[in-house]
Amino acid sequence: MSRRIAVPALQVPTPGNRILLVDEGSSIALFNVDGQLYAIDDSCPHQGASLCSGRLEGQVIRCCAHGLRFDLASGYLLNSTRLRVASYPVEVIDGQTFIVFFPEECTP
Ligand code: FES
Repeated sequence: MSRRIAVPALQVPTPGNRILLVDEGSSIALFNVDGQLYAIDDSCPHQGASLCSGRLEGQVIRCCAHGLRFDLASGYLLNSTRLRVASYPVEVIDGQTFIVFFPEECTP
């Protein structure tokens, strides 16, 4: 069963921006790329740097620590399927934005 966290309307990032959300001990980075919202774990799977503070290059986030780049939609390291940051669906229902967690993404 999935779990949803509601993003307060005033915190939903505008195009080109991002926010960091903390929910039950998890830090989630929420990006807005040309009106499309993407949610990923804030922690880089390489050595844990914050991806929210990374450099946004279109739909790709470049980690500020060592420069690895991740596709915001899939979470995968570019040109690889071996390293991935957890990514979460984002739904907008009646104007309310939700980040959706599925059980396999909720377990440590
Ligand atoms: S911690 Fe992100 S690339 Fe090394």
